[in-house]
Amino acid sequence: MSIPTIPVRPIDPSVEHALQAIVGGASAESTCSTDLAAGPWDFDTRPGYGPGSSMGDVIPTGAPRQGELPVEYREAGEDELDARICAAKKALGDRVVVLGHFYQREEVVRHADYVGDSFQLANAALEHPDAEAIVFCGVHFMAETADLLSGPDQAVLLPNLAAGCSMADMADIDQVEDCWEQLADVLGPLDEADEDGLLPVIPVTYMNSSAAIKGFVGRHGGIVCTSSNARTVLERAFERGRRVLFFPDQHLGRNTAKAIGVPLDLMPLWNPRRPLGGSSADVLQNSRVILWHGFCSVHRRFTVAQIEQARAEHPAVRVIVHPECPMEVVDAADEAGSTDFIRKAIDAATEPTTFAIGTEINLVRRLAAQYPQHEIFCLDPVVCPCSTMYRIHPGYLAWVLEELVAGRAPNRIRVSDDVAQPARVALERMLAARPR
Ligand code: 13P
Ligand code: SF4
Repeated sequence: MSIPTIPVRPIDPSVEHALQAIVGGASAESTCSTDLAAGPWDFDTRPGYGPGSSMGDVIPTGAPRQGELPVEYREAGEDELDARICAAKKALGDRVVVLGHFYQREEVVRHADYVGDSFQLANAALEHPDAEAIVFCGVHFMAETADLLSGPDQAVLLPNLAAGCSMADMADIDQVEDCWEQLADVLGPLDEADEDGLLPVIPVTYMNSSAAIKGFVGRHGGIVCTSSNARTVLERAFERGRRVLFFPDQHLGRNTAKAIGVPLDLMPLWNPRRPLGGSSADVLQNSRVILWHGFCSVHRRFTVAQIEQARAEHPAVRVIVHPECPMEVVDAADEAGSTDFIRKAIDAATEPTTFAIGTEINLVRRLAAQYPQHEIFCLDPVVCPCSTMYRIHPGYLAWVLEELVAGRAPNRIRVSDDVAQPARVALERMLAARPR
């Protein structure tokens, strides 16, 4: 499969430099948290996700914590870190592959061998069986996925263990097991097909979920999806089941199910803190898609009012948003799709065009730098990166790579065998469902 090459044109200013300028008073822009301009290590020893859009979210008690980053990396300047990363990568050669998600900061992305969305990076991990180490510049669930797809002797390293995903944390395995039991009480045995050969519920989890959830889905005949193949996955699930239980992102679930014609009143929300998720048995029996009560703090910031303002100021604007945005926002936009869909849509525009984009700001600024023939801006006027993606600072990347050079493999992400086996089944079903 084709994976985008590293952008040759640097972002100017990068999100990091924009934040520093805001905090230093040299920019009239605003940010959701001035604390984002600090080094992420200032927050590694505190509970919670640290500054930014996810600051209200709570890290689950079992989530890994990052230890203290050695002081030489905390105090090194940007140029020094850049040179150390380049030198360590050169020393390691083909022994290491660095993967970078589209939402990573520019200062990290420039060192990635592959840059892509979560589906593409899962494939990139699969396609490098000879690399001893895969350094995943992304968030925890992505590194877990790379561990599931890579060989047993390959080490997957997450440069900062505090890079979680607040949405993934919203579907806790105990709550999901409990939901499954409650659904069995209402719908009957969940592993028995009806007279049409359809199972009562097919569980579908978004890639943005823990390996434990992927394992649950694999054990119960379900499948993983990403934002680029969610529609194909839902259609396949309905070939085998009456209903879908979709987690953790209610918005991706609702937007995708709506696009394939599922009526909104047949999509109850499952709130894990309430009996039967907050619905009646009748509502669950009549449902087609049961939506877990999760959301992305970054994409929840986009609003219809922002789209109206963009249209008022730029009458010919093309508005493209990520399907993690709320339904009203997706409906008001011209198009919705995964991060790679957004990139391809801009790439395919032959005439100079104004684009207003509803996704994470690092990607939007990179696209604006890569496609100067177009005017590209973020719908949200506030500089607000995904705070957990932003935990991967070049200081951690330099540390991890230099540790590898020294023969050590810190921050290794390993999924236990009991979870890995069924999780792989669910992921392999996903990899077979190519995006459309
Ligand atoms: P993609 O699947 O489009 O890479 O998105 C991942 C993500 O975390 C979006 O918030
Ligand atoms: Fe998670 Fe949202 Fe960040 Fe994506 S942008 S990693 S869904 S918190």
